Amino acid sequence: MRIGVYPGSFDPVTNGHVDIIRRGAKLVDKLIVGILNNSQKTPLFSIEEKITMLKDATCDLENVEVECFSGLLVDFVNKKNADMIIRGLRAISDYDYEIQLAQSNYSIASNIETVLLISRNEYSFLSSSIVKEVARYNGNVHNMVPPLTEQFLINKFS
Ligand code: PNS
Repeated sequence: MRIGVYPGSFDPVTNGHVDIIRRGAKLVDKLIVGILNNSQKTPLFSIEEKITMLKDATCDLENVEVECFSGLLVDFVNKKNADMIIRGLRAISDYDYEIQLAQSNYSIASNIETVLLISRNEYSFLSSSIVKEVARYNGNVHNMVPPLTEQFLINKFS
């Protein structure tokens, strides 16, 4: 059974993330969405809120599970018996960071392969930061995030 992990901060999940989850889920038998629980960062959404939003956005995908992790990503991947990390690549600005991440992960766990999925054109500008900025000033994020996430953003900034 091939298990993949799609890790991220997901603060909050965007339609671009969901697109990568949908496409990534076709490449493996089981895809685990791993939400980083980082005590050093102050995210907008709690880990419980992130789990709720991600579970709702992926509820029609039978082979997708949502979990959180702390510590090293490769330790989480190994603990889950996975051997593939899936990440999205939007633009050249993502490239440096993704290469660094993939190479450092490979140097500490060479059994794990990183697969980069090129984002679809319509999501190449989209990020959690952009979404938060638009929502903070009451802009319309309807086309940027799944429906429940839109509600969470509206509640957060109202
Ligand atoms: O959505 P993001 O913020 O780009 O996701 C980054 C993430 C969670 C994939 C990355 O920060 C991560 O894997 N953090 C866990 C610690 C780790 O293993 N770092 C890489 C090796 S130094």
